[in-house]
Amino acid sequence: MRKKIIAGNWKMNKTPSEAVALINELKPLVANEEVDVVFCVPAISIVPAMEAAKGSNINIGAENMYFEESGAYTGEIAPNMLTDVGVKYVIIGHSERRDYFAETDETVNKKVLKAFEHGITPIICCGESLTQRQQGVTIDFIRQQIKIAFLNVTAEQAATAVIAYEPIWAIGTGMTATSDQAEEVCAAIRACIAEIYDDATAAAIRIQYGGSMNAGNAAELLAKPDIDGGLVGGASLKPDFGKIVNYNK
Ligand code: 13P
Repeated sequence: MRKKIIAGNWKMNKTPSEAVALINELKPLVANEEVDVVFCVPAISIVPAMEAAKGSNINIGAENMYFEESGAYTGEIAPNMLTDVGVKYVIIGHSERRDYFAETDETVNKKVLKAFEHGITPIICCGESLTQRQQGVTIDFIRQQIKIAFLNVTAEQAATAVIAYEPIWAIGTGMTATSDQAEEVCAAIRACIAEIYDDATAAAIRIQYGGSMNAGNAAELLAKPDIDGGLVGGASLKPDFGKIVNYNK
């Protein structure tokens, strides 16, 4: 039985002091031990967020990480900077990073390998554009993203990974995928993992849905057999996030 994992992706929102205030506000609302709860916050807020979340069930994650150990990479965050402060999850390859910061399937793969090397669980994002969906190439496209992201990743590592299926057309638009649309792709992702590795790895890996998930649609999406959680943007910055985390209450 896979434990659900519900993560907030704060994106470029909240100053460090606002982050502390929001965590203090949400802490009592997200206290559901049946679910893994992760808040992925801007790098500058990771340390104060860790402090604020102490003693709660909230895990603090990062939104990005570089694939080198250290050196002349101005503005980047190294994996050991994250582990040094206790970060256990990092979002890799969000569509906004791919679209605005030129990340490719290849850089995603390098980051995934580096995260595993440092014992950080990557939340690996994939998702099609509206044009790709309309052209009927969604599954082909996602399979390619997954196959490259997992290149040289061992079965043992893959079993612990989190994949976030986020259709680009559903992100920040209020146009949530229907639960059937989301399940179809999440099931295809699991089948792809079974193909690369084996049934046990596919059964262990956790697959989230992301894209306009909110308190009103979370329970239906999370009831689907291949949807093991959510990656939540806008609604993770509001008390609504507590309702999403407590979708089963
Ligand atoms: P929204 O929930 O705001 O649509 O964002 C989803 C997302 O991109 C999470 O990574």
